Amino acid sequence: MLPKKVEEILNRQILREDYSSQLYLSMASWAEAQGYEGVSGWLYAQTEEERMHMLKLVRYVNEREGKAVIPGIETPPAEFGDVFELFDKVLEHEKFITGSFNEIIAVCIAENDFTTQSWLQWYVTEQVEEEAAVRAIIDKLRLLGKHNLYMFDRDILSMRGTGQAGTTA
Ligand code: FEO
Repeated sequence: MLPKKVEEILNRQILREDYSSQLYLSMASWAEAQGYEGVSGWLYAQTEEERMHMLKLVRYVNEREGKAVIPGIETPPAEFGDVFELFDKVLEHEKFITGSFNEIIAVCIAENDFTTQSWLQWYVTEQVEEEAAVRAIIDKLRLLGKHNLYMFDRDILSMRGTGQAGTTA
């Protein structure tokens, strides 16, 4: 049985993962409309990953005799400036999610829920990989510069599914 506080904060995370999925979907759609095939492909894949993260949490909460709450979510932004700003926002969001997991783990420890704490290690590792992957993309983007965005877009095309970026989001 999940401690109430753990159940509540895991439900908060279900909402945040769901929002992540919608945020990346909005980014993917924006990038596609701008003609960035590679960038949009990468973001569409992230959308699926985030949905998987959300579902994994839903299943876990229910499995531990809690009650997963399926959230209504706020509309994500629809404008992202340029590709540079977009990936800065992806990194900023992922850092926020990392912080969010740290908060959950602190609650697990306070509530002596070491089972959930251990289960969450998968997400902790994911976040480390994910932040590193987005940083690598930002580095590449800055190296290529704004005159080589076509090349960048071709390059990220081969990272689709995030395997080469070293992440599963
Ligand atoms: Fe599911 Fe990228 O956090």
